[in-house]
Amino acid sequence: MELTGKRITLGVTGGIAAYKAAELVRLLIKQGARVQVAMTEAATHFVTPVTFQALSGNTVFSDQWDPRVANNMAHIDLSRDADVLLIAPASADFLAKVANGLADNLLSTLTLARDCPLLVAPAMNRQMWENAATQRNIATLRGDGVTVIGPARGEQACGETGLGRMIEPEDILAEVIAFFQPKHLAGKKLLLTAGPTFEAIDPVRGITNLSSGKMGFAVARAAQEAGAEVTLVCGPVSQPTPRGVMRIDVISALEMHTEVMQRAATQDIFIGVAAVADYRPATAAEHKIKKDGSAAPPIELVQTPDILADVAALPSPPFCVGFAAESQNLAEYAQKKRAAKKIPLIVGNLIQDGFGGDNNTLILFDDNGQRPLSPAPKIELARQLVAHIANLLENR
Ligand code: C5P
Repeated sequence: MELTGKRITLGVTGGIAAYKAAELVRLLIKQGARVQVAMTEAATHFVTPVTFQALSGNTVFSDQWDPRVANNMAHIDLSRDADVLLIAPASADFLAKVANGLADNLLSTLTLARDCPLLVAPAMNRQMWENAATQRNIATLRGDGVTVIGPARGEQACGETGLGRMIEPEDILAEVIAFFQPKHLAGKKLLLTAGPTFEAIDPVRGITNLSSGKMGFAVARAAQEAGAEVTLVCGPVSQPTPRGVMRIDVISALEMHTEVMQRAATQDIFIGVAAVADYRPATAAEHKIKKDGSAAPPIELVQTPDILADVAALPSPPFCVGFAAESQNLAEYAQKKRAAKKIPLIVGNLIQDGFGGDNNTLILFDDNGQRPLSPAPKIELARQLVAHIANLLENR
């Protein structure tokens, strides 16, 4: 659970996307958050307060003059109790109110009275989004330190297509989780590789490594959450791209090498998480190799370039981090690799501890010695790794 103990006040305003806010409440609660919902009167025309009450387990407020609030201070109490105020969906009208400091209903009043950060997920017709007044209001909100998430482009309830849809509840959840992460890598550029590579023998066969890509994708997500500008070069995997990460898909080690070397010199950090094939067939057959009854065809192998070592050998290389997945003698092999590739940090793991699963056990090896990270979900380990890298960079 990634939001354990976090108190979130969710403001729902009037728009058809209000029905998606119900799913959002469920997702937030599943991650351990305590959710308090406040609605505008308009929102109650789309979804009833009872729905949010049942999902959040808390009384839902929409009326500024609600007699259930003994001190008549719902607008103060609801924001004082929150770690973050999230408005989803945020209508054009509501954003205009907040941008101008209006307080004419419970939700706009508690927004003005808040002493916690504000996140808004706009949702409106594309023409309303493009309107100069809305854009002016969004710029004002950003200038006031409000985090604007979305909107997304796509089909709209009115039948038009364009920018203005609320981003999906899963993506809002990801943004809320990211919001709470320390910004260890703010302003840094980070490039990493993930997944296996595939070296073709013929059009339907090839040599590859077992790698789900999960660890690399977790590191990409953790780095993005920590404020880095992340580019992920990945081999063939079926993982969803973390929000805000620039993804480049490749197949072979040579392609991965090319994409990485084009970008490496301008990066602050490079992390090689990919399980790159060490050898590739010298040539790939143009047509499928047929079984013709004679001896098995020989496959001549040649070595692939060592991407990590090549990045580390640049005239002024980024801070380089490697991974070493070993089946035995982890500390000895990992330290040898760190020395051979001339990199400041290598992350070791024993293969039986986390192949393809969601959890892993890691040991970090650097100039200061070794530091074991207890078994944990890959995203948790990735966040610890990012914090460790940030610390090493700071004390370099
Ligand atoms: O050399 P070895 O494969 O054991 O080292 C593993 C580390 O080197 C990983 O970080 C991996 O991503 C990187 N590597 C690479 N290019 C290769 C082989 C490994 O970047 N051709």
